[in-house]
Amino acid sequence: MKTFLNQLNEAQLAPTLQKEGPMIVIAGAGSGKTRVLTYRIAYLMSQGVDAFNILALTFTNKAAREMKERIATIVGDSEAKNIWMGTFHSIFARILRFEGDKLGYPSNFTIYDTQDSQRLIASIIKEMNLDKEIYKYKQIYSRISSYKNSLITVKAYFQNPELIEADTMARRPRLGDVYREYVERCFKAGAMDFDDLLLKTNELLTRFPAVLAKYQDRFRYILVDEYQDTNHSQYLIVRALADRFQNI
Ligand SMILES: Nc1ncnc2c1ncn2[C@@H]1O[C@H](COP(=O)(O)OP(=O)(O)O)[C@@H](O)[C@H]1O
Ligand SMILES: [Mg+2]
Repeated sequence: MKTFLNQLNEAQLAPTLQKEGPMIVIAGAGSGKTRVLTYRIAYLMSQGVDAFNILALTFTNKAAREMKERIATIVGDSEAKNIWMGTFHSIFARILRFEGDKLGYPSNFTIYDTQDSQRLIASIIKEMNLDKEIYKYKQIYSRISSYKNSLITVKAYFQNPELIEADTMARRPRLGDVYREYVERCFKAGAMDFDDLLLKTNELLTRFPAVLAKYQDRFRYILVDEYQDTNHSQYLIVRALADRFQNI
């Protein structure tokens, strides 16, 4: 038995040692789920799994960094650095740098943070002469964000009478127009906002089967920390990537 496994309790050991097949670890906060995930990666590597074939998704950069450091102390720096480990956003930004040209983006596309996005939305609202007391830019931003995370594109929005009705009832009948303008302006600027990093990855994997196959083949082992916090867009990406080997 590998010595590093001594650092796990009995309940933690079984999920750590399961090599193949889908799996979810449900346990209370502080019970050691992240630890299981970390040691499971180390264990897979000790069993000969190539770091190249492991994808580990976390919710914060800090968590990714800590896991990577821990794994490095077990399997060594040079091995650990080859694991693709990071937040959903950082990992999918990386994939989009390689593949985004297929969607019409430059490989050096800009990433708009929340403030950039909100500023752009505020200026669109102003240009369209909308009442800024009704079209509050932060609210519009979060509405657009939730559409994107539900994979409701501008086109899908305009094809959905219920959404239009809901925004009209909320006294914001022009929301769809703001959404369209915002998306066009981002695209023209060669920019993706945070939600695009997920939305565009979904689009990429759906529209380009060869790209999907490439990453499915590469990421034979997919580990997600804090899985319960994934939104719909993140869930669909993970499901698509894991569809081939089912090691998630
Ligand atoms: N078997 C163990 N031996 C020693 N410390 C442990 C063990 N399991 C968990 N811990 C420690 O408990 C804390 C919480 O573990 P963590 O994996 O972050 O829990 P969770 O992800 O379930 O919230 C961490 O500091 C971790 O190092
Ligand atoms: Mg945790």
